[in-house]
Amino acid sequence: MSEIKRIGVMTAGGDCPGLNAAIRAVTKTAIQKYGLEVVGIKHGYRGLFLGGDNFVKLGLEDVSGIISRGGTILYSSNKDNLFDYTYTDENGVEHHGDMSDVGVENLKKAGIDAMVIIGGDGTLTSGRDFARKGVKVIGVPKTIDNDLASTDTTFGFDTAVSAATEAIDRLRTTAESHSRTIVVEVMGRYAGFIGIAAAIAGGCDAALIPEIPYDINKVADAIKANRARGKNFALVVVAEGAKPLDGDVVVSKVVEDSPDPIRLGGIGEVVAEQLEKLAGLESRATILGHVQRGGTPTANDRILSTRYGSYAVDLLMEGKFGNMVTLKGAELSYDSLENVIGKNKAVEEDSYWVETARRIGICLGD
Ligand code: F6P
Repeated sequence: MSEIKRIGVMTAGGDCPGLNAAIRAVTKTAIQKYGLEVVGIKHGYRGLFLGGDNFVKLGLEDVSGIISRGGTILYSSNKDNLFDYTYTDENGVEHHGDMSDVGVENLKKAGIDAMVIIGGDGTLTSGRDFARKGVKVIGVPKTIDNDLASTDTTFGFDTAVSAATEAIDRLRTTAESHSRTIVVEVMGRYAGFIGIAAAIAGGCDAALIPEIPYDINKVADAIKANRARGKNFALVVVAEGAKPLDGDVVVSKVVEDSPDPIRLGGIGEVVAEQLEKLAGLESRATILGHVQRGGTPTANDRILSTRYGSYAVDLLMEGKFGNMVTLKGAELSYDSLENVIGKNKAVEEDSYWVETARRIGICLGD
């Protein structure tokens, strides 16, 4: 008999489509397959710290009908690292330091034997640190950026690429009507997966991604070459983390109380302005931003997050604590959080992404 009777489930970090499908899969598998109780922890690690009504029992009825909903019924926060935490008590006194013991204590008080933590790099870093403290943790990889190591795909990515592709389809018609270059800035942090995938799916002229520093003259030359063969407009995808050969990323803001304070953004405008001068077409920039993170998950993301969530409970019941669920090809597996954290995945030069883009003549700025 397993010593696990009640499990916790939490979503933390930037949200993405598919989180609810994952919560649903965890809950259904835990209850129906193993007869466990499930407690949802609201607001990520902040809820774990605060306890009380942030801990809610989840039954089958609570997760019914949520598979198609974006966001997360448990809410999220991408600011709260309990290992380096600041909070102000009821007397207005600020406390700072490692508050992770409070989280461990709250789990004990709630009778939670093990946790499924659904998150990206930052969230799973804390997941690993709680595992080091003896908490029984399984991580589930989510992020639109698709930048987590050890797994082929994170859920949320497919939906983000679909949203970006739909936007590009819309921008194509207006770019063509006005003979313009339209630069589409997409998210992805320091990884170019969303950028290169959306550029391929959207049939774009160029894709600038963080992994391949660009020469703006090469992009302008590609647009001019297309013009010479009669194409009167251009679509250029720029990942927010892209940078020129001789420059750096553009930072839109610094969120001081975030474990990862740098927010990228703004490169789209820079590139559009330069291309207007160099390629001779009037240019506009569109920043897609959080549109890529919201809304209904694609069927693929619903299926992936369902598989991940369900398998995470299997791993807990098999005692495989301290691991993250992974996908290799079509197969689910797992890897140690110790191994996953701090090794973000990037678009490789010899990947099918780059190969496909180059084969069909998408300019990558190099
Ligand atoms: O990691 C997901 C992501 O959407 C990145 O693509 C983006 O850089 C960042 O989060 C935006 O963070 P925030 O929601 O704090 O603005």
